[in-house]
Amino acid sequence: MKQTPSFRKSEIILTGDRATGPLHLGHYVGSLKQRVSLQSVYEQTILVADMQGLTDNAHNPTKVSSNILNVVADYLSVGIDPSQTTICLQSQLPALAELTMYYSNLVSIARLERNPTVKSEIKSKGFERSIPTGFFTYPISQAADITAFKATLIPVGDDQLPMLEQTNEIVRKVNNLAGKKILEECRPLLSKTSRLPSTDGKNKMSKSMGNAINIGASEKQISKAVKAMYTDPGHLKIDDPGQIEGNIVFTYLDAFHPDRQYVDGLKSHYQQGGLGDGTIKKILEECLQEMLRPIRNKRTEYLNDKAQLINILKQGSALARENSEKVLFDVRGIFGLNIF
Ligand code: TRP
Repeated sequence: MKQTPSFRKSEIILTGDRATGPLHLGHYVGSLKQRVSLQSVYEQTILVADMQGLTDNAHNPTKVSSNILNVVADYLSVGIDPSQTTICLQSQLPALAELTMYYSNLVSIARLERNPTVKSEIKSKGFERSIPTGFFTYPISQAADITAFKATLIPVGDDQLPMLEQTNEIVRKVNNLAGKKILEECRPLLSKTSRLPSTDGKNKMSKSMGNAINIGASEKQISKAVKAMYTDPGHLKIDDPGQIEGNIVFTYLDAFHPDRQYVDGLKSHYQQGGLGDGTIKKILEECLQEMLRPIRNKRTEYLNDKAQLINILKQGSALARENSEKVLFDVRGIFGLNIF
């Protein structure tokens, strides 16, 4: 799958986030920044994926419901503008569930089992045979999300590439059945930092594992996370030469520090020896505090006005509902079901 698209004159952008926790810096560099810069150029829809969030949380649904407005506040606080971007709630768009039902007839169990992202999620969640059907089939529901808007460009992290591949397979099958182009194939839009490592350097950054810095993190939380960050375990004395590779502090400096040259200078100093972990952590902390302070303040303001957040979501959902019905009508038609 081609991973760096050149932009076309017109693109339809769609993306989503599971509403299972507040968004973190991984989302910020992986996708949110791109959404902010593209919203004034292209048509853009963002789904708060509550139904996908439930696929592995049905027995603990408040984990999803209590995070819906947090995610909306995260969007607004980083600069997503509801007058340019349609922000909607997945469960409020019945066409998505219906499309999922039709598409599921076109996807085999064997194909679902081959999806590497789902495979590793099943393993890490320890599901084995007790995997919920909804979780196993969520790539089909994600294909419904994407195709319902005829989206062409999907800003996501690289763990989502298998979902887009599966989406395009469904698109081709539907178009083949129709004998004409009804659905659009999509391309991923990956960022330079498409996967930010967790602060402990061990795992994928996760909303649940406490190894991520949330967009709305408090000053104290940021400070604590940076202090505990994984560096170079072999760098015992300040004068020792240090390693950059795998050193999370430098990975974060690369991702967030505005001054490239300054970071390059720090890197060579660190490699030569004489630059302490405490110093680089202090520099990173300052940079993150400065970047996140205004975001946090806005986020708090938004969360203090829940009625406004609900209103934004309600209006966006009404618009998206109408749009998604058109594709549903076409897909139903392929199966000969538009008889009245
Ligand atoms: N799977 C995505 C995630 O885990 C969320 C998502 C749902 C999504 N629907 C989407 C992403 C459609 C891109 C397009 O974060």
